[in-house]
Amino acid sequence: MSNPYESDKLLGEYLLFHYGSAAEVLPWSGGPVAALDYPVRCVTECVDVASLPPGARALDVGCAVGRATFELARHCGEVIGVDYSRRFVEVAGVLARDGAVPYQRTDEGALTTPLIATVPAGIQRDRVKFEHGDAQKLRDSPGSFDVILAANLIDRLREPGKFLARTPSLVRSGGQLVITSPYTWLEEFTPPNHWLGGFIENGVARTTLDGLSRALSDRFALVGTKDLPFLIREHARKYQWSVAQASIWRRK
Ligand SMILES: C[S@@+](CC[C@H](N)C(=O)[O-])C[C@H]1O[C@@H](n2cnc3c(N)ncnc32)[C@H](O)[C@@H]1O
Repeated sequence: MSNPYESDKLLGEYLLFHYGSAAEVLPWSGGPVAALDYPVRCVTECVDVASLPPGARALDVGCAVGRATFELARHCGEVIGVDYSRRFVEVAGVLARDGAVPYQRTDEGALTTPLIATVPAGIQRDRVKFEHGDAQKLRDSPGSFDVILAANLIDRLREPGKFLARTPSLVRSGGQLVITSPYTWLEEFTPPNHWLGGFIENGVARTTLDGLSRALSDRFALVGTKDLPFLIREHARKYQWSVAQASIWRRK
């Protein structure tokens, strides 16, 4: 299958998802406004910024077009955003360099509206670097981090266990690992034998949180979980409303 995250369609949807204003994303009364600004809330609601050391290092794995990566830079001296989509990484790099990038929002069929994605003023863009990479085989020397964020990533990996197995060597003692996901397990992304949960095992329903605990709890303590709604606008009259579960882990 060709990578959907290289397509014009998803590039536009993710730029709007990450950088669109409330009026640009949801110009309807009665819509789920609590689901707006998801990449911002992944940081504000899940990262314990008060416990970060000065000059903290952060890694945003599966960063897409980088909004959460920039939000982490409000609190960290250095932030690396990694994504497997070369297109997303290239556009995120333009945002780091120029602070803005034009794009098209799909409204209906071939009808579009030109918009501009802008990194919020006050964020030091030079703290942020974007690179192409695979979460399942991250490069050997990214160093260690005070925070790792993996937002809506694990159910898009072929072998999420490989990513989880790497995290203890990447997170500093006392550092934070934030994993958010709606747990949309699909065979087209993840063969069922690699799903972390969402199946019956020995007659018992196994959730993804069970699978995460099994993979992480030797080296991380579970601080807590949160429900994080999010909204992706496909076109003027069609949205995906989802509720991710965030699990927040502290390295032992
Ligand atoms: C559902 S999107 C979530 C993006 C972003 N974190 C967010 O919350 O909006 C999944 C992202 O993971 C990226 N991705 C998929 N497989 C990957 C891999 N093996 N390594 C790194 N990123 C990957 C995709 O390119 C896409 O940007």
